[in-house]
Amino acid sequence: MSSAAPTGPQTPALEGGPVSAVVILAAGEGKRMRSSRSKLLHEIAGHSMLSYAVDAATALEPEHVVVVVGHLREQVEAHLDEIAPHVTTVVQTEQRGTGHAVQVALAALPELHGDVLVTYGDVPMLTAETLAALVADHRSAGTAVSVLTARVEDPTGYGRVVRGAGEEVLAIVEHRDASEEQRRIDEINSGIYVFEAETLREGLAGLRPTNAQGELYLTDVVGSARESGRLVGAHVTTDAWQTEGVNDRVQLARMNAEVNRRALERWMRAGVTVVDPASTWVHASVDLGEDVTLLPGTSLEGATSVAAGATIGPDTTLVDVEVGAGATVVRTHGSLAVIGAGASVGPYAYLRPGTVLGERGKIGTFVETKNARIGDRAKVPHLTYAGDVEVGEDANIGAGVIFANYDGVTKSQTRVGRASFVGSDSTLVAPVTVADGAYVGAGSTVTGDVGAGELAVSRARQRNVAGWVARRRAGTKTAAAAEAATAAQVGDAAHDEPDGASEPPEVEQHVVHAPLSDQEVVGQPADPQPDTERES
Ligand code: UD1
Ligand code: CA
Repeated sequence: MSSAAPTGPQTPALEGGPVSAVVILAAGEGKRMRSSRSKLLHEIAGHSMLSYAVDAATALEPEHVVVVVGHLREQVEAHLDEIAPHVTTVVQTEQRGTGHAVQVALAALPELHGDVLVTYGDVPMLTAETLAALVADHRSAGTAVSVLTARVEDPTGYGRVVRGAGEEVLAIVEHRDASEEQRRIDEINSGIYVFEAETLREGLAGLRPTNAQGELYLTDVVGSARESGRLVGAHVTTDAWQTEGVNDRVQLARMNAEVNRRALERWMRAGVTVVDPASTWVHASVDLGEDVTLLPGTSLEGATSVAAGATIGPDTTLVDVEVGAGATVVRTHGSLAVIGAGASVGPYAYLRPGTVLGERGKIGTFVETKNARIGDRAKVPHLTYAGDVEVGEDANIGAGVIFANYDGVTKSQTRVGRASFVGSDSTLVAPVTVADGAYVGAGSTVTGDVGAGELAVSRARQRNVAGWVARRRAGTKTAAAAEAATAAQVGDAAHDEPDGASEPPEVEQHVVHAPLSDQEVVGQPADPQPDTERES
């Protein structure tokens, strides 16, 4: 697998040692999502918004990662237990402002020294690299507080960065508390800061809710640090997306598209062909090899990996699927499956969990598989349900074969041996084993094991009732066709052997065949089925 296009955060080494804590604010209500699910659990590129914040924080290897939770905190805590058991959660019961949230966080930790980072849980594009750059600026300038800021076209709603004559940061003023003149400032506070611990403690202790919202503003720590003579700095990011929060589902979709666009760009630069980036979605955790081609309508999710030279799509969704080198997967939905190198899947295949297709194997059209191990070069080309099966290498499963694995109570296993051949429209009732090198005749219902080299046939013998159409369907097109065909036959016969002509028999006649011919048993023309030939 390629690792040429990293999608996850990397660990930037912090000069001057790790920060002591990263505090992630995540107690707010997220009302505008209009969701019973916490805003922080809504996903960007297949991962919760909160997971990005936690990953970026964790990449800096701080002593503590603290998440301040409040609204829907049971959901958030359960999620954190799952994805990041190393984080400390602190409950802010009442949301009394960003300053209050940090007070609550610090109260739950031992006394901190050094640098403390504060970020938000709903700013998914913020990277560890940007956090590291903020800390690096902070340290090299020797500031007590450094703010991550951005210049934006529409600063409405954001806190504004007020600078002095020498461009030094003086204060942050909230939109609601800002003057007309201050509202014209286009440099906004991202809400992400690094504080020298002592300055933060002092500043938090002095907060008063004397503002339009009656809250304790963390932003006021910037002003108070400045007033007590400390240096305040700013790191201006040119990538405003990194400071963008998600407040509603319109912003969620927009950010998803941007994250996806960037991921696809990285993959294209790493040697992946993406025919239509607008309809192609690749989650952050996916891995792609060189010369992979993604056709329109492809969605690769979860822990999916695609090895070099494989072609996926069009219209294919793969979740946690491993695709081998050079495989092709066309109009397919798959999850928790493995597709071998050089194998071919689809069009219109449904691979369910536990499907493992061998090298150069085939799962074809309208085939559903589940817990199915299909061996190297084995083929399941058309109209099959294969559940709880093991198909040996080089075996061929005919069209319309059903592996009946469920009796309403338990599921059982079917095994088809190496290079065996199951004729079309057969039903294999599990548990049953077809040994290596065995045949099942077309249209059979197999309930007992078939030994190596044996042919199993289980179906009613054919009988032909002569003259039935003329008697029972008189006057139909079919009867007319039969009459014409019979007359032609009679004519031919009369022509060939003048005295051999006879009337078609009037009575029901049972045609009893001599031993079944190979052709009718296997359900194939005497020559290899053209399809089989083509696919082998
Ligand atoms: C805040 C900043 C503003 C900045 C903006 C960037 C303050 C006073 N203002 O404004 O300068 O431009 O972020 O997005 O800090 N939270 C808690 N507990 C609380 C309140 C908030 O955990 O009691 C969390 C929220 O979940 C959210 C973050 O803090 O993740 C920001 O809160 P929010 O209310 O969105 O702040 P803004 O008013 O947008
Ligand atoms: Ca906000």
